[in-house]
Amino acid sequence: MDKKLIAPSMLAADFGNLQRDTELVNESQADWFHIDIMDGVFVPNISYGMPVLKAIQKHAKKPLDVHLMIVDPDRYIKSFADLGAEILTVHYEACTHLHRTLQAIKAEGMKAGVALNPHTPVSVLEDLIEDIDLVLIMSVNPGFGGQKFIENTYKKVRQLKALIRQHETTTLIEVDGGVNAANAGALVEAGADALVAGSFVFSSEDPKATIANLKEVIA
Ligand code: DX5
Ligand code: ZN
Repeated sequence: MDKKLIAPSMLAADFGNLQRDTELVNESQADWFHIDIMDGVFVPNISYGMPVLKAIQKHAKKPLDVHLMIVDPDRYIKSFADLGAEILTVHYEACTHLHRTLQAIKAEGMKAGVALNPHTPVSVLEDLIEDIDLVLIMSVNPGFGGQKFIENTYKKVRQLKALIRQHETTTLIEVDGGVNAANAGALVEAGADALVAGSFVFSSEDPKATIANLKEVIA
């Protein structure tokens, strides 16, 4: 895939001005809305759930890229389909029967994603890559925005790209955590198709200009 994508993480948006920040992303050059769902069990933090996603969805005019950091995600696949998720990503570390979970996501009409924690090697996906629409490589430990990018990510992106080429699949590579204008170019060069950016976008003075800048860096 040629076009490289930016997915601002709504975790870093101003929840008191959620409509404003959703419209900001609509008007920007961003491609997707990245939605971080945390349960306080799989990760040591709770973010937001269905009612907040519904509020975002009401105004969003771009695809919803939903990242579930929750245990037993099978329980909620249908709920997220009903809420309009286009991509539903579950964590490898949270799924005992990952193959089944991926089929269940696709059966609801969504694209199926798998996220890997920083300690999980890309090789665990060897027997599954043909069933995965998107792999989300965590470049921080999931749970919080605003953390420092883990440099080992580049190696994992290259390994994953090689695996995808070997199996001739159309799986997209997304990188999540600590992404900014300084590492975005190298991530795309390593093989990333989509980059999540939370605090870098929403803590900046002009989020729309920051998104435009990121798009330019990865073009
Ligand atoms: C972390 C989340 C990320 C986070 C990214 O657990 O999965 O999507 O919002 O935020 P930044 O870009 O600030 O690292
Ligand atoms: Zn995320």
